[in-house]
Amino acid sequence: MASWTVLTLVRTTTEYFQKRSIPAPRLSAEYLLADVLGCRRLDLYLDFDRPLTASEIDAYRGHVRRRSTHEPIEYITGKTGFRELELAVDSRVLIPRPETEQLVDEVLEWARAESRCGRVPSGGWRLIDVGTGSGAIASALAQELDDLDYILGIDSSPGAIVVARGNAERNRVQRTRWVVADGLAALDPRLRVDAIVANPPYLADEERALLEPQVVDWEPEAALFAGPRGDEALAVIVTAAAERLRPAGLLALEVGAGQAAGVRELIAASAGLEHLSTYRDHNGIERGVLALAD
Ligand SMILES: C[S@@+](CC[C@H](N)C(=O)[O-])C[C@H]1O[C@@H](n2cnc3c(N)ncnc32)[C@H](O)[C@@H]1O
Repeated sequence: MASWTVLTLVRTTTEYFQKRSIPAPRLSAEYLLADVLGCRRLDLYLDFDRPLTASEIDAYRGHVRRRSTHEPIEYITGKTGFRELELAVDSRVLIPRPETEQLVDEVLEWARAESRCGRVPSGGWRLIDVGTGSGAIASALAQELDDLDYILGIDSSPGAIVVARGNAERNRVQRTRWVVADGLAALDPRLRVDAIVANPPYLADEERALLEPQVVDWEPEAALFAGPRGDEALAVIVTAAAERLRPAGLLALEVGAGQAAGVRELIAASAGLEHLSTYRDHNGIERGVLALAD
């Protein structure tokens, strides 16, 4: 039999994935093959006739087998991109979503506007990322924000904190701290920071049935679901934030589709916080809410 080439392998795998209802069948085939060959996906297009060695085919078969169980591509390749970072990801952490990059932009914009007005805190910015997961938000802010004192990434999952710390090291990001804790509750009561940022779990339990198997069967339960309503974790953070922020400090939250109005109400009802702005994602959905401490 003729040997497999990049093109014949991608075509055959795409059909195989299509028959098994694997999302993004062609892209899956390409990403997995690029990972085995140690190149970028688009580089495959420059080398479609390249024959594959027996050991490359073996490694690729392993990847295809995993993907055919709906395992996410990022867990199989063990990595994903987030802003300027390459992050290691596995089933201990949520795969960071592109829309969360916007949350980082919002925090950077606020901090830079404060800087332009000469309001950089003496000693530098002190930030908290609640529910840090892979550390995507914390490491991106640590990499991109000037005058940072530190950013503390908090997660209730010890496995997530191992991944997050590893990602900061892997990207040579400085000034990060990591702690396993349940939200903001266990922190030193005297601690006051300049900004709290969070992309907490915000799905309602009943949304489980709507999720693709590659999400619900593989990503951590605690990263996805907040409870019967979906806004439970957001509510806990809003309630705790005011007393952790210095005056005029920022609370920046990513929210689920349809949750922004409710979060604005929680903010209005919470002593010590005032709504600053709401931003939309690229699909026009209200995706994040910002508030300031009084
Ligand atoms: C939606 S994921 C976000 C991960 C990461 N920040 C990102 O944007 O990709 C939510 C994270 O919050 C963590 N988490 C859930 N409940 C928590 C709690 N009570 N305290 C701290 N972390 C929590 C989960 O373990 C998970 O890593």
